[in-house]
Amino acid sequence: MEKKSQLYEGKAKKVFATDNPSLLIVSYKDDATAFNGLKKGTISGKGIINNRMSNMLMQKLEEYGVPTHFVEELSERETVVKKVTIVPLEVIVRNISAGSFSKRYGIEEGKVFEKPTVEFSYKNDDLGDPLINDCHAVAIEVATSEEIETIKNYALKVNDFLKTFWKECGIILVDFKLEFGKLSDGTIVLADEISPDTCRLWDSETGKKLDKDRFRRDLGGVEDAYAEVMKRLCEHM
Ligand code: TMP
Repeated sequence: MEKKSQLYEGKAKKVFATDNPSLLIVSYKDDATAFNGLKKGTISGKGIINNRMSNMLMQKLEEYGVPTHFVEELSERETVVKKVTIVPLEVIVRNISAGSFSKRYGIEEGKVFEKPTVEFSYKNDDLGDPLINDCHAVAIEVATSEEIETIKNYALKVNDFLKTFWKECGIILVDFKLEFGKLSDGTIVLADEISPDTCRLWDSETGKKLDKDRFRRDLGGVEDAYAEVMKRLCEHM
């Protein structure tokens, strides 16, 4: 596998072409941003943790019946993934109120929902990733109704798996964000990453936040929290 030119640099990852037109290499950075890039910082070692963690979880999810972009881990920070066209929707699943949900509806953080919720944000930095509903997503042609159904079903399946997995690690899965992509034949697969950057994870015993909210809200101990989640995941594999 030969790494070729850089195609894209995002907030947390870089993407490179390879000698195989259907494969890419992603490289995880330690850079962290919040509030649509307004807050910037570094979480030392985060790229290594997120790369490993995301790959471990995606391999488990494949076994559970969710297709993903994962192909092969190359190094501490680099992974070969299938080339996809990203569906420009952030797919957010929530089990417990927190973050923008709590703010929008005036609900304290920590309300446990009877059933998980699924929502979409339109991935568009200029617009600040606005909330979007199914009809609007179809209207602006970011996905078809069938694709949205598939994405929702996969997102809930990911939740079923992750909720149980993290529970066994002594961690409550509050909410998370997924992104999906389309292969050249139109198949929908899970893409991007699953990590403490993209999930809210609370310690089951103490309720301590073990995710990127420590960075977003200046709570301190960010690196330790990421390391703690990684340690528990490894103990459980
Ligand atoms: P929210 O409560 O701020 O809408 O976040 C919901 C979940 O999505 C939370 O687990 C954090 C994650 N998330 C991202 O991964 N990227 C983002 O840009 C945002 C805003 C949230």
